[in-house]
Amino acid sequence: MSPGPRHLQTFLAAAARNPQTVGAVAPTSARLAERLAGVVPAVGEPVVVELGPGTGPITAAVQRRLAGRGRHLAVELDPILAQHVAREHPSVEVVVGDAAVLGDLLAERDIVDVDATVSGLPWSLIRPATQRAILDAVARALRPGAPFTTIAYLHALPMGGARRYRALLDEVFDEVLTTRTVWRNLPPAVTYVCRRPRSRAGHDG
Ligand SMILES: C[S@@+](CC[C@H](N)C(=O)[O-])C[C@H]1O[C@@H](n2cnc3c(N)ncnc32)[C@H](O)[C@@H]1O
Repeated sequence: MSPGPRHLQTFLAAAARNPQTVGAVAPTSARLAERLAGVVPAVGEPVVVELGPGTGPITAAVQRRLAGRGRHLAVELDPILAQHVAREHPSVEVVVGDAAVLGDLLAERDIVDVDATVSGLPWSLIRPATQRAILDAVARALRPGAPFTTIAYLHALPMGGARRYRALLDEVFDEVLTTRTVWRNLPPAVTYVCRRPRSRAGHDG
């Protein structure tokens, strides 16, 4: 399924406004979004954190999976995109904010344990120190055994930045699994599914 013209227009306007933070050629396809949302627990009342919802394709997939259960927090840097997502998905708690201060954003909302974190962030545009800060905050917030999942574009996998990011994931998480390629995405992509943070300092103890 391709994004509707209104979503595409909103996405392209955001990319033109902020090429340094949007960092993708098109919104995530429904197929890839479903793959990412597949880590959200299918039962119970999970707390789900989404980073960088953009125009909301992953938001929609997470909402479909939740089907009215749990809590879904979406952290978006761009206020216009945040407003767009909030309008389209009234049950999502949309926060205009920087994933780099995720720990504070969660604390302000009394969120201690997160059941799944799903990322649409453009990691290649984020400085390594900030990548680390975001991943450490994600790791601290995840309930034991809970997943963090993110996108990696197939064509970029051999590139230095993507390899360093993958190495960083291995540093932060004990388990990093790569899923099958989703060809129905522009560009084709895999997802990483990460569990068991190596250090949960400040969380367990
Ligand atoms: C590549 S777009 C992806 C949008 C959407 N998730 C998708 O998959 O189509 C990246 C999104 O992350 C947002 N973003 C970038 N850096 C961010 C940050 N530090 N904190 C929160 N959102 C951020 C951008 O504004 C943009 O909406």
